[in-house]
Amino acid sequence: MWTFPLLLMNATTNIGVVGAGTMGRGIAQIAAAAGHHVTLVDQNQDALIQAVGSLEAVMKRLVEKGRMNSEEASGLLSRISTSQSIESLSDSGLVVEAIVENVDVKSKLFADLEKVVSDQTVLATNTSSLSVTGIAASLQNPKRVIGLHFFNPAPLLPLVEVVPALQTDSGLPEMMMVLMRNWGKKPALAKDTPGFIVNRVARPFYGEAIRILEEGVADVATIDWAMTELGGFRMGPFTLMDLIGNDVNYAVTESVWTSFHFDSRYQPSFAQKRNVEAGWLGRKSGKGWFEHGPDAVLPEPRRDKELGQQILWRILVMLINEAADAVFWGVANAEDVDVAMKGGVNYPKGLLSWAEEVGLDRCVSKLDEMKALYGEERYRCSPLLRKRAQEERGFF
Ligand SMILES: NC(=O)c1ccc[n+]([C@@H]2O[C@H](COP(=O)([O-])OP(=O)(O)OC[C@H]3O[C@@H](n4cnc5c(N)ncnc54)[C@H](O)[C@@H]3O)[C@@H](O)[C@H]2O)c1
Repeated sequence: MWTFPLLLMNATTNIGVVGAGTMGRGIAQIAAAAGHHVTLVDQNQDALIQAVGSLEAVMKRLVEKGRMNSEEASGLLSRISTSQSIESLSDSGLVVEAIVENVDVKSKLFADLEKVVSDQTVLATNTSSLSVTGIAASLQNPKRVIGLHFFNPAPLLPLVEVVPALQTDSGLPEMMMVLMRNWGKKPALAKDTPGFIVNRVARPFYGEAIRILEEGVADVATIDWAMTELGGFRMGPFTLMDLIGNDVNYAVTESVWTSFHFDSRYQPSFAQKRNVEAGWLGRKSGKGWFEHGPDAVLPEPRRDKELGQQILWRILVMLINEAADAVFWGVANAEDVDVAMKGGVNYPKGLLSWAEEVGLDRCVSKLDEMKALYGEERYRCSPLLRKRAQEERGFF
């Protein structure tokens, strides 16, 4: 019988990271900062060269800012080696995969990895949208597979969603939770369901904001102003979509919507689709919901507090409903849903704590009002939110 290795808790365990792109290099940095020796593998030599260059630049900046001294920085870099071959991962206790988001390519890599590593090695995937269970199915021993979903930028954002597959050994999730805490992260345990916690619960932040725009209630600048100035969010939805890229954000929404068998709660918008078709992807293309670039003039919001409160309340209630529903369906417990939204997307408060603050009964009334007005399933109240409101109980 396969039992999970206890050695992993230890900084002497070698860590392998496959994929030296945006995520892989950040994960390598985190593990090396925690004292592990890390082997970063990429099939593309240029990606490895770029990863090392960017890690050196990050270390230089951290030293300049006084966040670490130069010995610590050079020590961290010396613990990261690179390779183009997965054969170099033979002595790894844990391998984290961060390659292209394609189930066939990932499955092939996991099957190849299993032939190289020891039978005690844990294999983790950083997938955002694929089923961890589906990836695990490509292994002889699927018990050793788990999702470790880091957020971008991985060294800065504290959240890691720990996602056991159906087949995962029952002791492994807790072990990974402990390891992630040792790496300075805030882990949240999530069920293997589309979007896990954050990419599911955050959908209304974008989707409801675009609905408000499409209905002509307010423009992008006013909606962003309401969410930041009145709601305390670090970025408004349209500024954030322009940062993420409308192509990427649209693809995530479409993937969650498709995975949920076209549930109207996650339905993508025509407005965003048209932006993508026009090549208005956001900052990276110089134009998205806003103009970008040196000469860009940002539009002024309509600073109407009453309108702003209506916008904030509508989006917030939809987010709270989504958070409650994630708990209802056992995606995560209430504590982890709040940890996830604060640690993965920097929300100013946990959504379920926020629900308790504003009153669960008010959230239910607002959802019922919108459901009556629009007649759409999109606005149906989560049974858990309604039940807790009726019982005059909170989530904590
Ligand atoms: N970028 C994000 O914001 C983000 C956030 C969370 C999770 N993720 C997930 O992390 C994973 C990686 O995303 P990314 O943005 O870092 O991608 P990326 O394109 O920046 O990097 C992927 C790297 O993997 C390499 N690669 C591809 N196939 C390989 C193979 N078979 N063997 C070895 N190397 C291979 C590529 O050469 C590339 O350097 C994806 O599953 C993605 O969904 C991404």
